[in-house]
Amino acid sequence: MLTGMFSRALFSGALLAAFATAQVLVDFQVAEPPPVPTNVQTCTTMILERTFGNSYGDPEIVQYTPPTDCGAAGSWSAVTLNFTVTSNGAQYDRLGVFTFQNVEIWRTSTPEPTYDGIIWTYTKDVTRYTPLFAKPGTFILELDNELATGLNGQYATTLYATFYSATEEYPTAGQSDLIIPISTMSNTSADDASVPPIFSINVTLPTNTVEVYAELYASGNGDEEFWYTNTADEYLGDLPAGTTYGSGPFREVRMLVDGQVAGVAFPYAVIFTGGINPSVWRPITSYGALDLPTYFLDLTPFVPVFADGLPHNVSLDVVSAETNHTINANWYVSGLLQVITDTSSEPTTGTITSYEVQPYAVTQTTGSVGGGDVNVTVMATRQIRIESTIVSGSGKENKVVWEQNLEYSNTQYYLDNTYVQNIVQTATGSVLSTHNGVPTVVDNFEYPLNINVTYYDITNTSESFYSTFDHSYNRQVVPAPFILGSTITERQQAAGYFTISTAGNTGNGTNNNTFAYADPKGNTYNRDVDAAYNVITYDQQSGSLAAESSLPQFPWASNAQNIPTARLPGGRQAGKQPN
Ligand SMILES: *[C@@H]1O[C@H](CO)[C@@H](O)[C@H](O)[C@H]1NC(C)=O
Ligand SMILES: *[C@@H]1O[C@H](CO)[C@@H](O)[C@H](O)[C@H]1NC(C)=O
Ligand SMILES: *[C@@H]1O[C@H](CO)[C@@H](O)[C@H](O)[C@H]1NC(C)=O
Ligand SMILES: *[C@@H]1O[C@H](CO)[C@@H](O)[C@H](O)[C@H]1NC(C)=O
Ligand SMILES: *[C@@H]1O[C@H](CO)[C@@H](O)[C@H](O)[C@H]1NC(C)=O
Ligand SMILES: *[C@@H]1O[C@H](CO)[C@@H](O)[C@H](O)[C@H]1NC(C)=O
Ligand SMILES: *[C@@H]1O[C@H](CO)[C@@H](O)[C@H](O)[C@H]1NC(C)=O
Ligand SMILES: *[C@@H]1O[C@H](CO)[C@@H](O)[C@H](O)[C@H]1NC(C)=O
Ligand SMILES: *[C@@H]1O[C@H](CO)[C@@H](O)[C@H](O)[C@H]1NC(C)=O
Ligand SMILES: *[C@@H]1O[C@H](CO)[C@@H](O)[C@H](O)[C@H]1NC(C)=O
Repeated sequence: MLTGMFSRALFSGALLAAFATAQVLVDFQVAEPPPVPTNVQTCTTMILERTFGNSYGDPEIVQYTPPTDCGAAGSWSAVTLNFTVTSNGAQYDRLGVFTFQNVEIWRTSTPEPTYDGIIWTYTKDVTRYTPLFAKPGTFILELDNELATGLNGQYATTLYATFYSATEEYPTAGQSDLIIPISTMSNTSADDASVPPIFSINVTLPTNTVEVYAELYASGNGDEEFWYTNTADEYLGDLPAGTTYGSGPFREVRMLVDGQVAGVAFPYAVIFTGGINPSVWRPITSYGALDLPTYFLDLTPFVPVFADGLPHNVSLDVVSAETNHTINANWYVSGLLQVITDTSSEPTTGTITSYEVQPYAVTQTTGSVGGGDVNVTVMATRQIRIESTIVSGSGKENKVVWEQNLEYSNTQYYLDNTYVQNIVQTATGSVLSTHNGVPTVVDNFEYPLNINVTYYDITNTSESFYSTFDHSYNRQVVPAPFILGSTITERQQAAGYFTISTAGNTGNGTNNNTFAYADPKGNTYNRDVDAAYNVITYDQQSGSLAAESSLPQFPWASNAQNIPTARLPGGRQAGKQPN
């Protein structure tokens, strides 16, 4: 009986419903287990333990000290963070921001609990932040939760760090000399900044800096949570009030140095677990929900600017394809610079020899309106090319070329007087820097996203819809020469019904995933995993990182009632629908 339940052929919703038991639901995001050394000595320390109830503006703040039993601080071969959370009741998904020594090192969000309870564990590779872990400092987890009538779910969290000793086979991990935050620098809250407007901070680098690599964190929230469903202002008036927000669907995260664009990111659209149809995101969350993707830029072309040792204005903003480039409130952004200094303490010299960068992407908005349809397409292309020659104090010359070639397209089909809303989006790009001709930062990506929502049975007190999602994260990335890159091919197809009703929300769904990971060290991991109606129906893992112990895992069904309301594009609500 049990084996049959887990094969595709014998699956039946009715059969599973009969077996549904009151057990804790094990939620997870499909992801590779961190590629850490095996058979080396490890040291695990608890970083924090905290239950987040009413926790708005009340983050967990702890002091960290490096372990001493796994080699000298910073000599480790790898570092991971292990975050385990339980919750029961009803609650929205919440954003979680981990800030360490004023640097954001992980942005996560929470799966929504059930009354029987949920648990999840995510283990994140944070080896690239070793220079931070090598020193004592302040660690902050901000997870703004709120308890209210009908929202009683608290998030009970535990965070461990595991340090892997270095050995001959697994040497000390590559790392920068210095990590510099591009953050609010607060010691009492998470250090991400809310934009708009633009966020800027003065940054001073050592005069013997020879290489600089940036990492960006960015996510849309509030009226920007479903930024990819926002409609160009030009066509907003053609839609009934309340259908969606304006400012269009194109978003570009920019990093500027002294007002000059240094690089940009076309972000991946992370759908949070309360997004559109919460029922399809349990127990398998949408991709990225537990570990939001970050973006990597080579800032080495700006070394000639920074090498004067004076403060420089580094800015982050998020802009749209609208004429005035404005967006709605809000995006949370932060960043960090991984800095390499020369062996010589003599100052670095050099010049930016070519700067071919426009302040904004080239965009085009077209649309057609008629017969109950509003179809709008926004397209964008972005080309960046910066060249510099950098001479280190010890006399080495580095000719750096930094190029980004990005494309974006989003078509929104509002059909049948907005009863049907379809989004067809894709962002693709090739990003490459070369140092004396050697590829250094690489980011080749393709993020197709298709969402269809069909509304039916709209009454004054309830609203039902059927939604489908087809979303991929295909990315080959090398963040910096000393950070392990990866190639990920991931596709998630999910679909289901949802009813928002004053009598209680109900929903159901299926969620099918194919995932493949490979890295330059030869590690591989593949997972094909399907869920239907809260239960894992198929799970195959393979590759060098597929640990026997984690194979297979079959979370059980759980009480799916008391779902907080689905969050819909445009803040749409039952009984307040457009028309
Ligand atoms: C999913 O919900 C829809 C709409 O309520 C319903 O018609 C369908 O039978 C449900 N499917 C399952 C397998 O429960
Ligand atoms: C993470 O924590 C969970 C819960 O304590 C534990 O089962 C798991 O083994 C830990 N994993 C790692 C890699 O530390
Ligand atoms: C935060 O703490 C650091 C280290 O103690 C200190 O240098 C910095 O001034 C503090 N920031 C603020 C805003 O107080
Ligand atoms: C940066 O420093 C300059 C002068 O030192 C100051 O005028 C400016 O306000 C500072 N900018 C920021 C963003 O702190
Ligand atoms: C820093 O640069 C940004 C972007 O050009 C600009 O908006 C801001 O005013 C600058 N800040 C300072 C203090 O010069
Ligand atoms: C940008 O344009 C929109 C639409 O025309 C307008 O509503 C908004 O006020 C403008 N924002 C700014 C900052 O100019
Ligand atoms: C909108 O797009 C749909 C789907 O492609 C098409 O059937 C319809 O004719 C279009 N309507 C308009 C007004 O362009
Ligand atoms: C979703 O909508 C798009 C555009 O209207 C259409 O091409 C596609 O077939 C639809 N997909 C599904 C599963 O309905
Ligand atoms: C729904 O609301 C409309 C407008 O407020 C009202 O005329 C109608 O009677 C309501 N229908 C029901 C079934 O309550
Ligand atoms: C997921 O796979 C199951 C079993 O093959 C299938 O019935 C279901 O329609 C699939 N769901 C989606 C959204 O493709």
